[in-house]
Amino acid sequence: MAEGPGDPAGDRDVEVRQLRRLFRIFGATQCRDRSPVYEALSEGVADDDGLLDLLMSTPRDQRRPSLLFAAVNLLLASDPGSALAGYYPVRGGRRPVDDRLMPAFAAFCAEHRDELGRLLRTGSTQTNEIRRCVALRLGLDHVRRRWPGPLALVEAGASAGLNLLVDRYRYRVGGQEASAAGASPVLITCEVRGGSPHERILGPVPEITSRRGIDRHPVDLADPGARAWLEAFVWPERLDDLAVLRGAIDLAVSSATVTVAPGDATTDTARLIGELPGREPVVVFTASLLSYLDFDARAAFAAQLRQAAARRPVAWVFAEAPGLVATTDGLIVPEGSLARRNSRYLIGASLRGSGHRDDALLALADPYLRWLAPARHRTDDFAWLPTDADTG
Ligand SMILES: C[S@@+](CC[C@H](N)C(=O)[O-])C[C@H]1O[C@@H](n2cnc3c(N)ncnc32)[C@H](O)[C@@H]1O
Repeated sequence: MAEGPGDPAGDRDVEVRQLRRLFRIFGATQCRDRSPVYEALSEGVADDDGLLDLLMSTPRDQRRPSLLFAAVNLLLASDPGSALAGYYPVRGGRRPVDDRLMPAFAAFCAEHRDELGRLLRTGSTQTNEIRRCVALRLGLDHVRRRWPGPLALVEAGASAGLNLLVDRYRYRVGGQEASAAGASPVLITCEVRGGSPHERILGPVPEITSRRGIDRHPVDLADPGARAWLEAFVWPERLDDLAVLRGAIDLAVSSATVTVAPGDATTDTARLIGELPGREPVVVFTASLLSYLDFDARAAFAAQLRQAAARRPVAWVFAEAPGLVATTDGLIVPEGSLARRNSRYLIGASLRGSGHRDDALLALADPYLRWLAPARHRTDDFAWLPTDADTG
């Protein structure tokens, strides 16, 4: 009998095809110009039936390129002499991508199949991109100009909570450097396109009275295994990112001022804000959270912000895909192409207090905040920013 939709084997074929496509898209959109190793491996995995079989044996929502690559990267730490490690600068490798990379990857996965399978079944995708503090600083500056004085800081979807240490890092933005933290060991760099918002990003950071995060799967930095897992999400060539991440982790552990509670942003944000001491305004930061939330969950998160703002001024500062911002809580995103530029992040702020609401778009940026283009006015559609910048 022919296989077709509804047949288990037919469904499986469809899922395998989707998986191949997912890896090819990941390679072409996420890795091109950023990671030659992952770009080549994404194509290689898409063509490797054995690896696709391994992925098919894991729950559907665990079949993600970033998870496979992080799991392999983690295992490489205990096998630094392997041929594969030779291609990973973060594991001490120096070999350029060549046609032996994919065979080395497939052989490594076969050799570590059981452990890899376990990581793929149980691991959660866990990243903490500290460069996004540049977006937070832009947002804090916007809030500071409207609500001068101390602020409480909350991050929803905080991961390890490293963005909550926004005022403890050094910054070099558009070639200019500023430090709110004296001799911070952590330097965050960001290029500026089409403007010079240095004073807005590198200006004074308001006094932060408390720092609290909430996450469905908080990373416990005191656990060496959790720390190694977080580090494994750094891409093979990004030695600079690894150094920044490690510096920020050390700072967080030694300062012990950051707490990230387990919880769901769509149900627990208002309660968390309600528990904060004081009456000063609260800045709620989200970065790369909305992509985890469907339409209803985004509406629920917005309702949490409204509920909290009924009791105390709340400013939502975000760095999120424009199309998701446009479909969350009626936020101002100009009609037109901006809402489709979802390979970029829109940075903005929405201030709510005493029945008033004040929304502004502040910048369009690379999702990893390697560059940022400041808005020319509060409802800028960024049509002036050439789309070729979208490839960089
Ligand atoms: C891509 S990470 C971004 C982490 C951090 N905001 C950053 O920019 O580096 C997204 C985080 O959101 C968390 N998350 C996803 N859905 C959530 C929810 N409904 N409530 C709380 N956290 C959530 C994930 O566990 C993950 O740590």
